[in-house]
Order: sequence, then structure tokens, then C-alpha cells
Amino acid sequence: MAVLDPALLDGLIARKEAELAERQPRSIAFAERARRALAGGVACSWHMLDPHTMYGSRGAGSHVVDLDGNDFVDLHCGFGVMVAGHANPKVVEAVRRRVGEGTHFALPVEDTVEVAEHLAERFGLPSWRFMNSGSEATSDAVRIARATTGRDLIVRVEGCYHGSPDGLDFSGWPDVAAAGPRERPAPVPQTVGIPALFGEALRMVSMNDLAAVQRIFAEEGDRVAGMIFEPIPLNMGVVAPVDGYHEAVRELTRRHGAMLIYDEVKTGATIAYGGAIERFGVMPDLICLAKAIGGGLPIGAVGGTEDAMAIVADGTMEQEGTFNGNPLSMAAAKATLTEVLTKDVYERFEELNRSMLAAVDDARSRSGLPLRAETFGARGGLQFSDEPLRDFRDRDAVEGRLVYLEYLFQMTGGVFEPNGDPWTLSVAHDRDDVGRWESNLVAFADALSA
Ligand SMILES: Cc1ncc(COP(=O)(O)O)c(C=O)c1O
Repeated sequence: MAVLDPALLDGLIARKEAELAERQPRSIAFAERARRALAGGVACSWHMLDPHTMYGSRGAGSHVVDLDGNDFVDLHCGFGVMVAGHANPKVVEAVRRRVGEGTHFALPVEDTVEVAEHLAERFGLPSWRFMNSGSEATSDAVRIARATTGRDLIVRVEGCYHGSPDGLDFSGWPDVAAAGPRERPAPVPQTVGIPALFGEALRMVSMNDLAAVQRIFAEEGDRVAGMIFEPIPLNMGVVAPVDGYHEAVRELTRRHGAMLIYDEVKTGATIAYGGAIERFGVMPDLICLAKAIGGGLPIGAVGGTEDAMAIVADGTMEQEGTFNGNPLSMAAAKATLTEVLTKDVYERFEELNRSMLAAVDDARSRSGLPLRAETFGARGGLQFSDEPLRDFRDRDAVEGRLVYLEYLFQMTGGVFEPNGDPWTLSVAHDRDDVGRWESNLVAFADALSA
């Protein structure tokens, strides 16, 4: 198929939106009640889904059930959190036990230390602190870099997302007209309400543009506190770093006395047992974790070298939070990390990936669509392109309605996946689960070639 027929695309989208609405009448009606007490009817802006907000009810293993009772294979996994699977018996048992023993003391408990010891072994970084979300982890990591170096500037990659802190919430998915040239992107606030002033402490680069990182360090290296990025960006689709990128960034940051911060909130314990650190064999100064390590309870973690964490360990820099190291989250994290996300599960993810990649090949040859996929462990994503995407700008050029139509085919075919974001596998997913996704993908491709 050389050129996409816009009328065909519009017609298919309208048909699939109507089909989904027919299956979710209770969600659609419930949204009216929800909007009266809950701003916009949701707890987080990202819960406002197209074509209508859907409300959840329960989950078990690899499946979730919505308010209407529809059963979905869950490839959304709660923004990449539920790699342990829903209601995993090991996590349920750990949480049940902890609830009965009290859930909050403003004191570290034994589990707090045991989770830190486990993370130290798993990621090769000796010193840890906990918080409750990925946003708090990135915010604390950047503060550590600034406190330790006495410098203000942070190098940040366009199209990576580091959560909601005002000082970082720039250029996650910016309007490229506002961001300017790819070689020198300007920081664009992610939403209204973020003072542009915060952007003055950021220096933006495009992913995989080493020349831009070199230029910034050459021009202002003595003002840079650190560089933060997702070691495999999973917020611009799935974008693989080019060969040598990690090593070169490590060398540059070290040479200029700046800290290298891996935001492994999405990749940590999902793409490999030891995340990107294991995958690339490059050691950052600091790593941010959250999402999957908590098995479904709120958590964030920052780990670092002895040098990087010294300013926290000796009390010079305050790292705070009422619920930091909450015993319930720690119990869930200990069970998740030591009993569920064990070394053996990562090979199973790769087996399922091979099957999904074969379906992508099939869909491409049936439809002639530019279509490929990138997968890393439990995470993967489609790319509507013949060539691997290199950065956010490559992704931005993709026909968004095509992405949306694929999402609608999955939703109406009983697979809950994020609209355009990477999918997540859990330890509970099996061949039948991914088989449902594969049939929907092929049906999508066939509809476009009709
Ligand atoms: C790479 C990355 N860092 C940080 C965050 C923020 O995490 P949280 O939503 O738990 O605050 C996210 C959230 O999606 C993320 O993808």
C-alpha cells in the first residue's frame, strides 16, 4: 500500500469507536457521575482515554476487567507497572501479612533494608533511598547532582519523560514548531502552568545526537550538574540507542565532572533483570526506579555510587517524604523483586517477543504498511516506519491516526494496550494472550489493505 487512503482510515476509526462504545455503556454513563466529584472524571489526566474514559473493575494475572464486565488481555499493565501480573499470589500474601502488622511508622523497617540490599546486588549500585513515585525519584536524583556538583544545568533528551516535577516536565512530546531545530531543541513546558523560567536550567538534545551533547559540554561543561535520560527511551515509542551512545555519554559526563543519571523508571527490572545497566554494561552515577519494582504499590527509588550518595548519607542534602520507604510498598517490592521478577523470567519475555515480531512481519507483508517493532524484555512497541526510529522527531512524523486505529483494533479485539505507547508483558502472559494481540494486528493490517 503506497499511500494511505484518508477516507478509509476515517471510516475504520468511526466504525471501531462505535463498536467500543457499544461494549462500554456503563463506563460512558459512569463518566457523567464521576465528572461531578472528580475533575474531568479521572484521577490523572492520562486516564482520559479516547474515544471515551473507561473505568476498571478488577484484574487477575494477565487480564483486566472493565466496569462493563469486558475481559481484556492487559498489555497496558498500568503504565508498565504490573510486570508481576495482577493480584500475584506472592505479592498479595506479602501485603496481607504487612497490613496486619501496621503499615506506617515513619521508621525504616527490616524490609526497607532488605529491598535496598537486593537493589544494590541487582543493579550494582551500593547506596539507596526510597520515595513513592518515579517523579519523586527523578526530582531527588537531579537535586543530588546539583547539590554534589554545585552546578545548576541539566542536560535532558527531547521526547524522554521524567515525570511531573516542574523543573523536569519539559519537552516530553513537544510541539516541534515551538521547540525549533532538531540539532538545538529548545525546552518546551509540557503543560500550561510550568514557568518557562525552569527551562532556563535545562539544555535539550535529541536522542542519539552525540554531537549535540559534545557541543553542550564543550560550551558549558563547567556549568552542567548532570545529564538525565531514559537509557532506552520508552516515552517516544521504543527507541534504541545507537551503538556507542552510552559509552560516549559516560565518558563526556565523567570528563566534565557531571553526573550521569539513568531514568530507569520504565526500563528497570523490565528490559532485563538488571535493567539498562546490565544491558549496556555502562555504570551511571545515579539510577531512578519506580513502577514495576513495587508490584502494583506506589514506590520510587534512587540508587547511586558511594560518592554520588555521600551528600545524602551524611545529611548535607535533605531527601524527604512522609511516606518514603512505606512498609506496605517495601513488603510488595521485596516479594516482587525476590520471588517474582527473578532471573529466569526474562528469557520467557524474549520468547513471547519472537512470536509478536513474527506477527508484525506478517502484518507488514499483508498490508504493505511501513511497520516494524522494537522489543526489549517485557517492553515493546510498534513503529510505523521502515527504518528504526532514532529520536522524538522521527516518531512525531508518524501518522497519528494510524496509531490510534491500531489501538482501536486491539481494544475492540479484547486487548487493553496504551494508545501509541509501548506495551508491557507480565510474568502471567502466555502464548494465548499474545496470540490475541497478533490476530488483532493482522486484522488491522487486512482492513487497511481492503
Ligand atoms: C521514564 C519515566 N520517568 C519518570 C516517570 C514518572 O513516574 P511517576 O508517574 O511514577 O511519577 C515516568 C512515568 O511514566 C517515566 O516513564
